[in-house]
Amino acid sequence: MSKRVIVDCDTGIDDAIALLLCFRHLDVVGITTVAGNVALANTQRNTRYVTELAGRQDIPVYAGCDRPLLVPLETAAAVHGAGGLGDIKIPQPTKQLEELHAVDYLIRTYADSANRDITLVTIGPLTNVALALLREPRLAGWIPEIMCMGGSLTYGNHTPAAEFNVYADPEAAKIVFEAGIPLRMVGLNLTRQNAMTAQDVETLRGMGNAPAAFAARLLDYVVRQDGRGCLCDACAVMWLIEPSIITKSLPLHVVVETKGEFTRGMTLCDYRHLIGSDPARDIEHTPQYTAHGAPPNVTVALEMDLAAFNKVLFDTMNSYTQ
Ligand code: BDR
Ligand code: CA
Repeated sequence: MSKRVIVDCDTGIDDAIALLLCFRHLDVVGITTVAGNVALANTQRNTRYVTELAGRQDIPVYAGCDRPLLVPLETAAAVHGAGGLGDIKIPQPTKQLEELHAVDYLIRTYADSANRDITLVTIGPLTNVALALLREPRLAGWIPEIMCMGGSLTYGNHTPAAEFNVYADPEAAKIVFEAGIPLRMVGLNLTRQNAMTAQDVETLRGMGNAPAAFAARLLDYVVRQDGRGCLCDACAVMWLIEPSIITKSLPLHVVVETKGEFTRGMTLCDYRHLIGSDPARDIEHTPQYTAHGAPPNVTVALEMDLAAFNKVLFDTMNSYTQ
């Protein structure tokens, strides 16, 4: 039986490809959408379109928060295109949104003890999850695990210090990271290792099915921007689909910076005990010194097997028939 997940996303380019992977390998019981890469009106519409393209209209899609908890929405439309899917103009999907708000859906689902095996995959800003935790604090004990694409052990992308999903709603990220829920963090330090190329675009294009052709156009849009493309959100779902693809990870204490003049949205990871005895390496994989600080609250991905990632990605996209 495949693993049950709820995916919380702000469907832009890499979210769309992550969803296409999930549909083939995981039991996606619901998808909640949030404002992030682009406005909620687009992220929920893009999500409905992707489910339809993959022939998965059976999966319910919920709309959630249309802005971060405290600050105005700052999108990543410069990366994902005005509508969130590069330069693809999608038709109006026929699949309808569910009436329930995403936050209510999360609370209602996990309130049922039969659902406490469902991993929550977050690949957008954490607004929906944080609001659900504020509304129903018991949720922290009900969600068995969060697989989160967000943050970074090292540098950021939206700012020098902050990765986009955490930067977009740092107060929400702080609530989620501090909730005590087992959390695996697939940050930029990991996802930057996932360098997709123009040749990968051609591989997808040659497959001859609609989801692969769609993925090729999406990847092409990012590869054209700077010669390589990182499918950040796909890296997070891969850790569930094929755990051996993440070849190194470490439990660390991680906090979210909400106040810094230059560092708002940074995930500050305490790895002082792992600073390498060889100064050429920024981190060792076994403790080098006596541990400092608070106990670990997050398992942070460090290294991935790109060849294995590509194999699963291409095999999966090739498996679509429509
Ligand atoms: C993350 O931010 C978004 O732009 C992507 O969809 C991904 O979730 C990468 O920083
Ligand atoms: Ca995303």
